[in-house]
Amino acid sequence: MAGFPRIRPRRLRSSWALRSLIAEVDLTPSKLIMPLFVDENLSKPAPTPGLEGYTTYPPASRELVNAVSSAMEVGVRTFLLFGVPSSKDEVGSRAFAEDGPVQRALRTIRDEVGWEPVLMTDLCICEYTSHGHCGLPAKSRRGVIIDNDSTLKVYQRIAVSQAQAGADFVAPSGMMDGQVRAIREALDDAGFTDVGIMAYSVKFASSLYGPFRQAVDSAPRFGDRRSYQMDPRNAREALKEVRLDLEEGADIVMVKPALMYLDVIRLVKERYPDVPLAAYDVSGEYAMVKAAARAGLIDETTAMMELLYSIRRAGADMIITYFAYDAARLLSSGRPPF
Ligand code: PBG
Ligand code: ZN
Repeated sequence: MAGFPRIRPRRLRSSWALRSLIAEVDLTPSKLIMPLFVDENLSKPAPTPGLEGYTTYPPASRELVNAVSSAMEVGVRTFLLFGVPSSKDEVGSRAFAEDGPVQRALRTIRDEVGWEPVLMTDLCICEYTSHGHCGLPAKSRRGVIIDNDSTLKVYQRIAVSQAQAGADFVAPSGMMDGQVRAIREALDDAGFTDVGIMAYSVKFASSLYGPFRQAVDSAPRFGDRRSYQMDPRNAREALKEVRLDLEEGADIVMVKPALMYLDVIRLVKERYPDVPLAAYDVSGEYAMVKAAARAGLIDETTAMMELLYSIRRAGADMIITYFAYDAARLLSSGRPPF
């Protein structure tokens, strides 16, 4: 038995330093994108409904500026803004108002922090519409449907208004066909050729958006989103959505949610290795970790890092996550759990 087993994989696992040396993926705070909720109804920060441990800020507040600065101190440089309006209507006017919540937050951060952070804006209307859909309802022969092409005109207005307020990237999340082309044209026509598009290319009709819809009050008031978001049974169709968005001018493409769609992340990365790929670790993924940790069933910190590493391992270049601040703080402390 001398020399048996000759090949011992455990040799590579004996210390934290050695494990880190052979680790196949890594994670740095610069790969994390932190969602920021801004609510124009607030006069001071408040706990985000549905999202344990998260905070919603007034758009033009010192506290919002402080939240951005604190995240930057631990290495997070990219933020994704979501707005909660004071009033909703059929077309979601507060989404493209010059003094809308996202527009005011953008101007505040630009004035107070400057142009170092990358500011991205979710571009959709579900938070802003009375019906809670990502597109405009219209009557068709099948009854009320969400109309694709009239919605694109609203998205164009939102894109230009977000760019004017200081967005670096707009992130259309409504899954309307042709939205990337329509937005690219509107931005270019308005002179914003330098504003990029991070396309929610592959967005599934998922149960995992529940906490988010509470956070921004965006649940559809009738029906569901299955006529525009993708069917969870499909992975190959994701490649078509990505191809179309790239043809239309997307700079970054995204798969959302992440955890239940790691295979899709891998598929997209293998087909398009030269395209920056984002994955959205959505509110329901965050909530599952938080709830299990609170019940004493799992260790939150370890689960958080394991979740984020799984998304990197699947092939995502960057991760949008409600854990951005906590994970970045841990990573920059030099004492991560793996
Ligand atoms: C819709 C939108 C959704 C999320 C962000 N923008 C999904 C939806 O309500 O259908 C989900 C984000 C999350 O769950 O963290 N435009
Ligand atoms: Zn939407």
